[in-house]
Amino acid sequence: MFQAAAKTLSATSLSRGILFSTRLYCKKTPTKLRVSEALSGTDVGANIQVQGWVRSVRSQRVNLFLHVNDGSSLQSLQIVACSELNNPLLTFGSAVEVTGILKKSPNQKQSVELEAERIHVVGESNPVDFPFKIKDRHSLEYIRQFPHLRCRTNAFSSLLRIRSEATTAIHSYFKENGFVQIHTPIITSNDCEGAGELFQVEPFGPEHDGDENFFSVPTFLTVSGQLHLEVMSGAFSRVYTFGPTFRAENSQSRRHLAEFYMVEAEVSFTHSLEDLTLVIEDMFRSATEHVLAHCAEDVALFHKHVTPGHRDTVDAMVKKRFPVISYSEAIDILNRSSQKFVFPSDWGCDLQTEHEKYLVKHCGNIPVFVTDYPYDLKPFYARDNQDHPKHTAAAVDLLVPGVGELCGGSLREERLDLLRARLEEVGLEDTYSWYLDLRRFGSVPHGGFGLGFERFLQCILGVDNIKDVIPFPRFSHSCLL
Ligand code: 4AD
Repeated sequence: MFQAAAKTLSATSLSRGILFSTRLYCKKTPTKLRVSEALSGTDVGANIQVQGWVRSVRSQRVNLFLHVNDGSSLQSLQIVACSELNNPLLTFGSAVEVTGILKKSPNQKQSVELEAERIHVVGESNPVDFPFKIKDRHSLEYIRQFPHLRCRTNAFSSLLRIRSEATTAIHSYFKENGFVQIHTPIITSNDCEGAGELFQVEPFGPEHDGDENFFSVPTFLTVSGQLHLEVMSGAFSRVYTFGPTFRAENSQSRRHLAEFYMVEAEVSFTHSLEDLTLVIEDMFRSATEHVLAHCAEDVALFHKHVTPGHRDTVDAMVKKRFPVISYSEAIDILNRSSQKFVFPSDWGCDLQTEHEKYLVKHCGNIPVFVTDYPYDLKPFYARDNQDHPKHTAAAVDLLVPGVGELCGGSLREERLDLLRARLEEVGLEDTYSWYLDLRRFGSVPHGGFGLGFERFLQCILGVDNIKDVIPFPRFSHSCLL
């Protein structure tokens, strides 16, 4: 592997007409900086080293220009070197370690650049075989075919930084608002949603042959941490969890995954659904504003190149209060519309994506809460509104532009007799005897919700396909890597 000898740049007139000053070879160990630290400009004049991957190479007669990126920012650091440091192994995608002096850049495009004294190619990359080409702007669909390499593109590395920052934003929101984080289990023996979309967990390997009884009960990957949060809400008035959840939905849709991240919160001593909608709206706004402020460049890349025009939608979502309509009102709106829907929209039918998108548009293309769904559509835990003739449960969904349902939540049935009757109806009284216990000892009105984290990212970035906002998408017939 080529390793360029460390050398001092002598007073050389470079093709850009800049005169580099003569200086002595600096023996001091260079300071290792991340690209974002170097770009901040605070180390101008220092002997530094950066490590990263080459995003562009331009070789001129006298000079060599590289852009090096290490994932710390969208912007890459420009490296300027004399052409003797050029090397055929310096290609798009190769990994390098560059040492030199950080200088103010004479070019408006960047504030600083690294005047290289030494460029070491750490890892080669054959540009012919590398699936991404230096000059092409690849579509999200194209880069999705290379889950093991797509983090090396600008768009996906931006997405991953945004995802990381959005995670921080959500944890900060809950911390600042007095919620205690609970690590709810991934392996569970309950089907919280009762929808039967479970992945079963069993031991595997020769020592377990014939032993399907590892836990002595059937066990599954969790579809929701809600019931475990409800346990905790008997001692903590505000709890949340944020982790992977799993659904064996046989869906290839643009908003469903078999493994996705869910943010769930549970609030004790609630009086009405408003206690939940206020938290949901506040969390949504706070996390969105945090991402817009802390990932401005990365978000701008999406809003400019991937989903032009989406920034206005996001600004409106942050500024305007979210309207609240009941399910019955939503049905009226759908039935008054001139749009022809594929799925029925009679009272009692579940809202489909086409209905949700219509309702969002109808309400001004901002998020809208839909409350009080038909009792029979909701799982056993939803609180009975005891109304008649349209029997509803105190449940709420948040529908958002471009995506449809982002959050689902409800007040929980805290009344022992009503809960027992419902569990009996569905034959689950024994399975959930521990859940009934929660209503026997210090039961309080409480409620909570779950927000699909990938759908949140889709919503703020305007990304159409959920597979483009998670590092390694899992969905039916696909589990690459
Ligand atoms: O509406 P869901 O099913 O609600 C629950 O699981 C409740 N137990 C949550 C609670 O009250 N603690 O799911 C919540 C959200 C949905 O609104 C949606 O955004 C997301 O999770 N979601 C999915 N996201 C991606 N792929 C899937 N297959 C999803 N299923 C639900």
